[in-house]
Amino acid sequence: MDREAELAIIRRAFAKQVMASVGVHDPATEGAFACVSRERYLGPGPWPILRIAGYVPTPDADPVYLYDDVLVGIVPERQLNNGMPSYHALMISAAGVRAGDHVVHVGAGLGYYSAILQHLAGGSGKVTAIELDPELARRAAEHFADAANVEVVQGDGGVIPFEAADVIYVNAGATRPADIWLDRLKDGGRLILPLTAKKTLSGSTSIIRHGAVFRIERRGDDFHARRISPVGVYPCEGGRDPVSEAALDAALQAGGAEKVTRLYRSDDIPAERCWLRAPGWSLAYT
Ligand SMILES: C[S@@+](CC[C@H](N)C(=O)[O-])C[C@H]1O[C@@H](n2cnc3c(N)ncnc32)[C@H](O)[C@@H]1O
Repeated sequence: MDREAELAIIRRAFAKQVMASVGVHDPATEGAFACVSRERYLGPGPWPILRIAGYVPTPDADPVYLYDDVLVGIVPERQLNNGMPSYHALMISAAGVRAGDHVVHVGAGLGYYSAILQHLAGGSGKVTAIELDPELARRAAEHFADAANVEVVQGDGGVIPFEAADVIYVNAGATRPADIWLDRLKDGGRLILPLTAKKTLSGSTSIIRHGAVFRIERRGDDFHARRISPVGVYPCEGGRDPVSEAALDAALQAGGAEKVTRLYRSDDIPAERCWLRAPGWSLAYT
């Protein structure tokens, strides 16, 4: 058997395991994970894998090591990683990307998950992949140089204008939704929004990030919200403000995110209906 045929089998097994680990039955997302080559987007190996003891390089450049549910360092010195496949499987499945969709990917890194989104949106759909870091954006653009339906844009995904989107898939931790993510979400569109806050552990100076991911669906002028996962992720630069962060930290510590049903673009919702209320926006129970 030639190496590509062998890797195709490995990818299919990987896709099955990734879906099983989050308990999701979604043949389309599984198919995308089975088809897209992770090694094509991560540059030449060996690759640094984040293990309990820190980054450990793979023994060699065999791509088999990438078909595991692991974080792979992209810029290890900044703890900037290619995300955990099972996390993305759950999030991408929740986003419900359909053929023909316009997907905006904020925090695209080197483009591996943009390619998964591209696969799901198909030839009739398109992906706008936005990455803040100029070098990562340049490398991602190279990866999609031959793709007519993926545009890589370097800049701040919280302010860069984009065409109205069916799905906005955010991969960096914000403290609040950027206005443009809500403004440019089509009716019926889905926003995957990771919200994170810093927490100082009591009796220690260490800081950890804690957070929750919400799936926001626009229905007319309403934004329906559902918490889909806990999260700790690289920060979204420009997408963080201290007042929202303090409100988020308090809400996360109090619990109850799973009862949230609505996102409002206002802060005049009665306090008893709110999980989180910060200037200009709220996450509420009704
Ligand atoms: C957790 S990394 C994920 C990268 C990629 N999705 C992956 O899994 O390989 C988060 C990425 O978001 C980018 N980022 C942070 N703030 C951003 C912003 N405001 N707009 C666009 N990208 C941003 C970072 O440079 C980083 O590449």
